[in-house]
Amino acid sequence: MQTKSKSINILGIETSCDETAAAVVADGRVVKSSIVASQAGLHEKYGGVVPEIASRAHIEKIYPAIAEAIEQAKIGKDDIDAIAVANQPGLTIALIVGVTAAKTLSFVLGKPLITIDHLHAHMQSALLTEENPTLPAVALIVSGGHTSLYDYHSPLEPKLLGFTIDDAAGEAFDKVASILKLPYPGGPAIEEAAQTGNPKAINFPRSMLGADSLDFSFSGIKTAVLYYCHGQDMKGQSKVDEMNRQQIADIAASFQAAVVDVLVEKTQRAAEKIGAKTIILGGGVAANTWLRAGLQQMCESAVPPKKLLVAPKQYCTDNAVMVASLAYYKFKAGFFVDLTVEPKAHSD
Ligand code: KG4
Ligand code: ZN
Repeated sequence: MQTKSKSINILGIETSCDETAAAVVADGRVVKSSIVASQAGLHEKYGGVVPEIASRAHIEKIYPAIAEAIEQAKIGKDDIDAIAVANQPGLTIALIVGVTAAKTLSFVLGKPLITIDHLHAHMQSALLTEENPTLPAVALIVSGGHTSLYDYHSPLEPKLLGFTIDDAAGEAFDKVASILKLPYPGGPAIEEAAQTGNPKAINFPRSMLGADSLDFSFSGIKTAVLYYCHGQDMKGQSKVDEMNRQQIADIAASFQAAVVDVLVEKTQRAAEKIGAKTIILGGGVAANTWLRAGLQQMCESAVPPKKLLVAPKQYCTDNAVMVASLAYYKFKAGFFVDLTVEPKAHSD
């Protein structure tokens, strides 16, 4: 008689920025629970994440989030096979809260500990429904802190091809939203405002950094929006208060179109360079409909066409499902760490 092998349940923990998240995922794919406690309300009046406030909020929310994730998963603590935590990259004083919680649970429950690179986890969220993408693949990870292109061959060994030399795409969305006096986080606010705007109204710069570059730069476009709203000499007051809804919508749509043009062009270059058959899209900015459509169009018009794999919207922004899902592969490979592991601001 054949016996069904037992599922591997992994508890994932995520505290790298301003989301306190815990999740239980079975066998890398079956989401048994996903708790995300957002701190957006706490950071809104500052127009960006304040590390000290984020860290304190993580301390308050981490254990309730973990307890709820285990309860909703309807498993006992003994059914957890490993504890996984995002330990890099991110705000060190935020990461340390998740890492300390994970180490404590690993020690108390006697379960192995797995550390996860937050950006690799963002990639994994696009692969939740596609276990075996056609390779080679290029992964574009666009978040509030990072904008990176990877050569993806396996869940454990993505190779960095390019990254931003200044602002991340999400950071540019947040800063431009702040210039336009739109709410925080800026990405969804810009996307909403852009819906009624003309993407060709203003020709904002598209920084390509040379014909072969796979790196990104978004500080120039942010400054261009600032100058547009204040005047070139920056001596004038912001004109945003005098602008009507249509003018704001046109700026938002033109900015969004310029950022997406750059992201699509660079992804296409990376795809050509490695002969990619699949494009993987993850990170908070991957929730953007204009970006998804731009990459879809690029994939469809390629000869032969490429397949676009995008993270489901609820797993684009920070969550712990992606951490627990990726940890399954490390679990199978026996990649465990001991209790001396520390958080790191940057990826290895
Ligand atoms: O991945 P994420 O949750 O956190 C980091 O790892 O940074 O990404 C957050 C970023 C924020 O900058 C937010 O404005 C942006 O993702 N974002 C969006 C959208 N939704 C979130 N940007 C553009 N369009 C969106 N719909
Ligand atoms: Zn993220």
